[in-house]
Amino acid sequence: MNTDYETVRKIGDVLNDPKEPLAGRFRALFTLRNLGGQTAIDCISKCFGDSSALLKHECAYCLGQMQDKGAIPALESVLRDENQETIVRHEAGEALGAIGADSVLDILEEFQHSEIQEISETCQLAIQRIQWLHSQKKHDKSSKLSANPFESVDPAPPAEETTIETLRERLLDEKLSLFDRYRAMFALRNHNSEESVKALAEGLQCSNSALFRHEIAYVLGQMQHKVCVPQLMESLKKLEENAMVRHECAEALGSIAQDESEDILKEYAKDKERVVRESCEVALDMCEYEQSGDLHYADGLIKVQEAKA
Ligand SMILES: [Fe+2]
Ligand SMILES: [Fe+2]
Ligand SMILES: [Fe+2]
Repeated sequence: MNTDYETVRKIGDVLNDPKEPLAGRFRALFTLRNLGGQTAIDCISKCFGDSSALLKHECAYCLGQMQDKGAIPALESVLRDENQETIVRHEAGEALGAIGADSVLDILEEFQHSEIQEISETCQLAIQRIQWLHSQKKHDKSSKLSANPFESVDPAPPAEETTIETLRERLLDEKLSLFDRYRAMFALRNHNSEESVKALAEGLQCSNSALFRHEIAYVLGQMQHKVCVPQLMESLKKLEENAMVRHECAEALGSIAQDESEDILKEYAKDKERVVRESCEVALDMCEYEQSGDLHYADGLIKVQEAKA
């Protein structure tokens, strides 16, 4: 798509305007991600100065998904910045892994022993993802891997094909490395059946890593299967649960868009954790979009064009 500099900047202005409603800023962000290019990257990077951790972490996520090396300097400085919230720094680390360039290994190694568990685990996973990419280049084994029907760049490759029961056991085995458990997670996600959703939802109870539980909620949101709504609700309601996990449960409920999710999202839109409140707000907007059948969720470009006309 050929979108001129001025138009991209205008969408960037919506993203970076704290007076705009959060849902509209999210839509502008996804529009920029879809457009790509350095101007879009610069507009997204500018947003790291915002006060919303939710929005900033989503900016980092989008920069990772774009897989453009032009975003590396901004992501590195976010990962380094101790004034950024953990959820934002985690997502910056993960995004560096998603870009997958060798040049990011130094900074990932520097933070792989961070005393903040979400950050150290993220960096370890990102390093292993890059190492895995290297091993793939040497021997082409990729054919044994299931395809990802969701078009996301994931923090780990899927495990080689095996039964759902074997994958479930690996997923829930807290003695295995996080990387191996993530590989089982993404293989189950790719399986995309009710049985695999149920196995994944059990992962919300695994106690040793909040990062792991939040990723489970993320993939359940991708799969949009209603069978896991009760488990997602249970984790959102748990006030002692890590806010990063509750945030991801709220967004997953929003993307599954059951009538029953609406009530709970409205309730937790008043949560004491800002990141949870804002996730519910954005999730309610996604709910509305899923229910309307509107194809233009990332409608920032349409809005700017309408304003021009
Ligand atoms: Fe992520
Ligand atoms: Fe995340
Ligand atoms: Fe998230």
